[in-house]
Amino acid sequence: MNKNRKWWKEAVVYQIYPRSFKDSNNDGIGDLNGITEKLDYLKNLGIDVIWLSPIYQSPNDDNGYDISNYYSIMEEFGTMDDFNNLLEKIHKKNMKLIMDLVINHTSDEHPWFKESSKSKNNKYSDYYIWRDPVDGEPPNNWESRFSGSAWTYCESRGQYYLHLFSKKQPDLNWKNEKVKTDIFKMVDWWLNKGIDGFRMDVINFIAKEQGLPDSKRPDSPEKWSSLPKSHKILNELKNEVISKYDVMTVGETPFVTPEDGHKYVNENRNELDMIFHFEHVNLDNYDGKNFLKFKDIQSKWYKVQEQGGWLSQYFANHDQPRPISKFFNDEEYREESAQLIAMMLLTLPGTPYIYQGEEIGMINVGFNSIEEYNDIRTINKYYDMLNKNLAEEDFFDKLKEKSRDNARTPMQWSDQTHAGFTNGEPWLKVNSNYKIINVKRSINNPNSVCNFYKELIYFRKNNKDLIYSDYKDLLKKDKEVYYFKRSSNKNVYYIILNFTGNLIDLRKKKIKLDLNKLELCNYNNYDCKKLQPYEARLYISKT
Ligand code: GLC
Ligand code: CA
Repeated sequence: MNKNRKWWKEAVVYQIYPRSFKDSNNDGIGDLNGITEKLDYLKNLGIDVIWLSPIYQSPNDDNGYDISNYYSIMEEFGTMDDFNNLLEKIHKKNMKLIMDLVINHTSDEHPWFKESSKSKNNKYSDYYIWRDPVDGEPPNNWESRFSGSAWTYCESRGQYYLHLFSKKQPDLNWKNEKVKTDIFKMVDWWLNKGIDGFRMDVINFIAKEQGLPDSKRPDSPEKWSSLPKSHKILNELKNEVISKYDVMTVGETPFVTPEDGHKYVNENRNELDMIFHFEHVNLDNYDGKNFLKFKDIQSKWYKVQEQGGWLSQYFANHDQPRPISKFFNDEEYREESAQLIAMMLLTLPGTPYIYQGEEIGMINVGFNSIEEYNDIRTINKYYDMLNKNLAEEDFFDKLKEKSRDNARTPMQWSDQTHAGFTNGEPWLKVNSNYKIINVKRSINNPNSVCNFYKELIYFRKNNKDLIYSDYKDLLKKDKEVYYFKRSSNKNVYYIILNFTGNLIDLRKKKIKLDLNKLELCNYNNYDCKKLQPYEARLYISKT
């Protein structure tokens, strides 16, 4: 186990999607002053680090992940003064703030792109990835992650530009030293302002294969995901800029394998502190065989931590459906499922990331018409579906499960109109379950999801040895129960979780729980011989 102590290993991180967190001026859009209003809530929950999804100036084609000015704040979210005020208040409360860093691409409304698209010989002509048409067609077969070709034709240059995401998100050309210099300067500017680190958006996509050849499958990432050059750029960024500050970095790295992941986070290589992999959230469910895969993924990734790196743990973010709905039971056992997730998140190896609303057990929304959705990926898929003549009904069923808007509906603060998020018209409809699922109700109930999170967070803070302890899966082949231990030189922590909606007879599984002390459980009445649906327990035994 990696036992080097660092503040960001001991921290609990909370992700805020600012558009949906709290609206302070009733225009229906969450904003910075709204976040400032809620700092006491986060502090009280035990949060150490707040991660903000992008708040920079943006035309919002992809809700801020398309940046048109890295140095200014999106008008709808407030001003730079509001930001400074938020940062100061966060620090006063002894919390930290990390920002989203989106540097694989910019908006097409960024001045660099506007200039670049004008001609082949201006100061910015090489800031993006431009290619001539091949027989009037795009230069290769790569597909955008948001449907359609990854290339869009630009009349003024007579060329195509590459965009792995929407056509309003042109990819930067990282082979151009000037791009690097300008981006590094911007990173330094924010760190110098006093922020505490970055979450780096699709950071393993920044290098593309030399010559941009066709890929085997059009959606295949082997041409642009985790190429050696991306490691080199991150190493330079760390050495030249980030290492001057005591900050944390976490890279979003889709498609990453543990082997490659180890390179990004190995402390000797000076690249990133942590990454987000997707193996566990990409499973369709956690039943039967998939559950075995899920456990295997945890063990496999633990090796990265054992061998000198550090992990992140998450089940939810702004791109994923709500995990209770996708993997557990969002009806009869919603609260138990939410608490089981909490226990895993706070006791598995690595730094935990809570996504807004997860701490009160928010679930998928499932809108019924395309007009109610906002997410560009969802909407592009809808038009794809129409073009391909697929049945609309099946499509909506899929959306209900998969759309990113499931995670983006406004935070549910109370049972007031629009869940207390705004007094105006919210930009995205509030989930109709807000009268039952909301912060106010959750805080007032000692057995709630929110209070279980709190207990776990404080438990973790009071037992730091847990954070640096070894991990072992004690029941690898069992298709119903997740049973693992974390051992330090002081304590052994046993965590046992029922991943099903059934009663589990522990004797049949030959599990004996005569451990010293039951520390936490999501049921008040527990039985030594049986686990109830989605029951989650934590035991300690002194070594
Ligand atoms: C990341 C973000 C996602 C965004 C994409 C393009 O995956 O999390 O929300 O759409 O990158 O920036
Ligand atoms: Ca607002």
